[in-house]
Amino acid sequence: MQQYVNEAVEQFRSILEEQIARQHKMEQDHRYTDYAKLDKIIIGICGGDGIGPIISAESERLLQFLLKEEIAAGKIELRTIEGLTIENRIAHQKAIPDDVLAEIKACHVILKAPTTTLKGGTLESANVAMRRELDLYANVRPVSVPELGIDWTFFRENTEGEYVLGSRGVEIPDTLAFDFKVTTNAGTKRIARAAFEYAKKNGKTNVAIVTKANIMKKTDGKFSELCHEIAKEYPGIEAEDWYIDIMTANLVNERTRSRFQVFVLPNLYGDIITDEAAQIQGGVGTAGSANIGDVYAMFEAIHGSAPRMIETGRGQFANPTSMFKATEMMLRHIGFAEKADLLDKALRICTDTEKKLVITGHDDGATCSEFGDYLMQTIAGIS
Ligand code: IPM
Ligand code: MG
Repeated sequence: MQQYVNEAVEQFRSILEEQIARQHKMEQDHRYTDYAKLDKIIIGICGGDGIGPIISAESERLLQFLLKEEIAAGKIELRTIEGLTIENRIAHQKAIPDDVLAEIKACHVILKAPTTTLKGGTLESANVAMRRELDLYANVRPVSVPELGIDWTFFRENTEGEYVLGSRGVEIPDTLAFDFKVTTNAGTKRIARAAFEYAKKNGKTNVAIVTKANIMKKTDGKFSELCHEIAKEYPGIEAEDWYIDIMTANLVNERTRSRFQVFVLPNLYGDIITDEAAQIQGGVGTAGSANIGDVYAMFEAIHGSAPRMIETGRGQFANPTSMFKATEMMLRHIGFAEKADLLDKALRICTDTEKKLVITGHDDGATCSEFGDYLMQTIAGIS
């Protein structure tokens, strides 16, 4: 037993030193990508696993359609990145094999389809690794249901909290297990700033700071305190403290939920509550997710790779909506707001008002590519 304790203490020392260095690096790093100043924006497209290649191929087709002129003029390059598959990752025993990571880093933005995340074991999630490697600290997830008065934007901290050491906990066999949660000053301030900046730019007046600071006193306590510190720089915006448990209830409380606008929250709570929010919007298949850093950005579907759909031969009926939403967010991020608005408008027509084709995930519904055709025809009709 003593040997396990000694090993764990040593492991904790090295983790502590590493995390102090990480926070220091965050404070020092002032790199930034200004997309407007790039001669050419390179968009990397990763197909992923399960239904991933099917829905990402459809997004690529959509991008080719929407950015036809820019691609022809050499202002945009679409680059397909192979190798972010579970088979390749297992073969290399790496969350993202080195050559794939190098290809990803040679792009400016990434559109990523779902990748399989194994439960247990030591192979880290490709999502989590990419968020860390590209320092994508703001996970922005909008959820809107206009007829219910819902217009929410979640700013989930995306690089630390419960995730930063998720694969590196300590276990003493037959006795106990420990995981770590890390909240740094620099990491919290930058997500808080992203949320308040967004609120300011979009005329929002309220930011909900969601934690469990009554129990996780150190980490969530720090998170809440620093968010309030940043809030002082934004006088017209009200900063409110909420606990995650009651906030999950609030989201399904029809009387009060439309008062919420912007949420800022630590990684794991953000993970959980954004699935709940997406379900209120119509399911996780309907939500897109932006992972924003100062240098890189990655846009993805909020849902997983749906291996069951492939196993049961239903892959072609996969719903590409969430990848299309991710595509819309990406277009906005790299400076094509008009095209993003057009896509948004067409998506609403196809999924809410007109619904000439409906995706059910089964053979009684439209296929992924039929739906893609429908969307592009709709765009052509309104542009
Ligand atoms: C998400 C997903 C990921 C996460 C998984 C796939 C690692 O659930 O993007 O919300 O937990 O962040
Ligand atoms: Mg999730």
